[in-house]
Amino acid sequence: MATTRRHFLATAGAGMAAPLMAQSSGTKRGTNDQVHIALIGAGGQGMGDCAASQRVGGVKLVAVADVYQGRLERSRELWGKDVFISRDYREVLARPDVDAVIIGTPDHWHQRISIDAMKAGKDVYCEKPMVQRLEMGAAVIEAQKSTGRIFQVGSQRVSSIVYLKARELYRAGAIGELNMIEAWWDRNSAIGAWEYSIPPDATPENIDWDRFLGSAPKHEFDPVRLFRWRNYRDYGTGVAGDLFVHLFSGMHMITGALGPRRVYASGGLRFWKDGRDVPDVFYGLYDYEAREGSHPAFNLALRVNFVDGGDENSGFRFVGSEGILSVEDGLKLQKTPREREPGYTIDTFSEAVQREFLAGYREKYPKREPTLDSMRPAEAEAFQAPDGYDDHFHHHQNFIAAVRSRKPVVEDATFGFRAAGPALLSNVSYFERRICPWDPETMKA
Ligand SMILES: NC(=O)c1ccc[n+]([C@@H]2O[C@H](COP(=O)([O-])OP(=O)(O)OC[C@H]3O[C@@H](n4cnc5c(N)ncnc54)[C@H](O)[C@@H]3O)[C@@H](O)[C@H]2O)c1
Repeated sequence: MATTRRHFLATAGAGMAAPLMAQSSGTKRGTNDQVHIALIGAGGQGMGDCAASQRVGGVKLVAVADVYQGRLERSRELWGKDVFISRDYREVLARPDVDAVIIGTPDHWHQRISIDAMKAGKDVYCEKPMVQRLEMGAAVIEAQKSTGRIFQVGSQRVSSIVYLKARELYRAGAIGELNMIEAWWDRNSAIGAWEYSIPPDATPENIDWDRFLGSAPKHEFDPVRLFRWRNYRDYGTGVAGDLFVHLFSGMHMITGALGPRRVYASGGLRFWKDGRDVPDVFYGLYDYEAREGSHPAFNLALRVNFVDGGDENSGFRFVGSEGILSVEDGLKLQKTPREREPGYTIDTFSEAVQREFLAGYREKYPKREPTLDSMRPAEAEAFQAPDGYDDHFHHHQNFIAAVRSRKPVVEDATFGFRAAGPALLSNVSYFERRICPWDPETMKA
C-alpha cells in the first residue's frame, strides 16, 4: 500500500470531503491479512493500545497524530522513522493506507474523531468513555450504522475471560436471584489521582493548543490543562466517565442489563485541591428495573475514592439470594444456601410459653438444631485467569479479528453508549444536585 503523505488540508480547506475519498473497502479479509492501523492521541493509553494491537500479529502502525510534538517524536522512537506523523488527525484519516484507527485523545474529542474516521472509511477502536457529553452519543451510533464500519469502545473488561466466566456463572443461576451489585475503585497515589507529569518542552511551539481545545471553551495556553485534562470538565468526564464507565461496561456484559432507570450521585473534592473542578470522592446509586431473560430489579452502588488511605483496589460484588460473586483480579463465588429453618428468639417469653413454643417448633422441625452454622454451610469456588493473561490485549485481538471478518463486536457504539450514558448522567446528578431519570432502551435522559 502507498504511504505517501497527502496534504489534503492544503487543498480541501477545513471540510471533511478529502478523507471520504480515502475509503478502505470494508470487505472481509483472511485471518492473517495485514491490518494497517493509525493512532490518534499518542499519550499513555494510546501508546499502550498501539503496543497491544501490534502484538496481535499482522498489524502494523503506519501513522500517528498528536497535538504535542514530543509524543510524535516518541512514536517514531518506538515504532520507526517510517511512521507518518502529524499534529492534525485529519491528515491521518486522509491516508488510504490506514485501515483502522485507535483513538486515545482526551474525552472531548472522541465523538468528533470517531465520526470523521468512520466517514473516512476507517474502522475505529475508541477509548472509553465513548463520548464526553450525553447529547453526543446518538450521532456515533448513527455513524456506525450508516457507514457499516467496525467500531469498538476500549473498555477491555468486556473481553476479559474472568468476566466471561462471571457471566457464565451468573447466567447459570449461581447466585440465585440477583438483588444488588456493589463496585468500587479506590486509589491512594498522586498518579492515581491524575497528577501526571508535565514535560519541560511543553511550549506553544511544540503544542497545537487550538487543536487540543477543539470545541471546548477558549482558554489561554496552559500545559497543565493538556497533560492533566482529566481534572477539567471542559475536556474530561470526571471519575464517573473515567472509571464508572468501566464498571458499567463489565457489569452490563455479565448481567445483560441495558442500564438504570434512575441515577443519583454524590461526592466532593476532599483532598486533591490542585485547581481541578471535578470531585475526588464520588458515589453513584442506580435503580435497575427487571429485564426479561436477563435480571430481576436490582440496585447498583458505585464508588470511587482517590484518597482512601489504604491499598489501591477495585472490584465487584454481585449479591443474590443464593450467594455472592466477587470479581476482582480473579473471581470468587461464595454460595450460602438460604436457611431451611426459621430459628427462634424466645428467651424474653415466660418459661411456660418458651416450653410450649419449643414443643411446637420441634414438632415442625424435628431433626435439626437451628444453629446458623449447621443450617447454612458456605461453599466457595475461585477462578483465576492464567498467569500473564491480559484482557487489554484480548480486547485488541477481538477488534482486529472483527476488522478482518467484518463480524460485529460486542462493545459497539450502542453498548458503549449504554455504559457511558449513566456514567455521564452521574455527573449531571452531582453538579445539578438532582435525581436523573434515564431510559436504557432509547438511551435518553
Ligand atoms: N481502557 C483503559 O483502561 C484506559 C486507561 C487509560 C485511559 N483511557 C482513555 O484513553 C484516553 C486517553 O487517556 P490517556 O491517559 O492516554 O491521556 P493522555 O493525556 O496521556 O493522552 C492523550 C493524548 O491525546 C493528545 N491529544 C489531545 N488532543 C488531541 C487532538 N485533537 N488530536 C490528536 N491528539 C490529541 C494529547 O496530546 C495526548 O498525547 C482517554 O479517553 C481515557 O479515558 C482508557
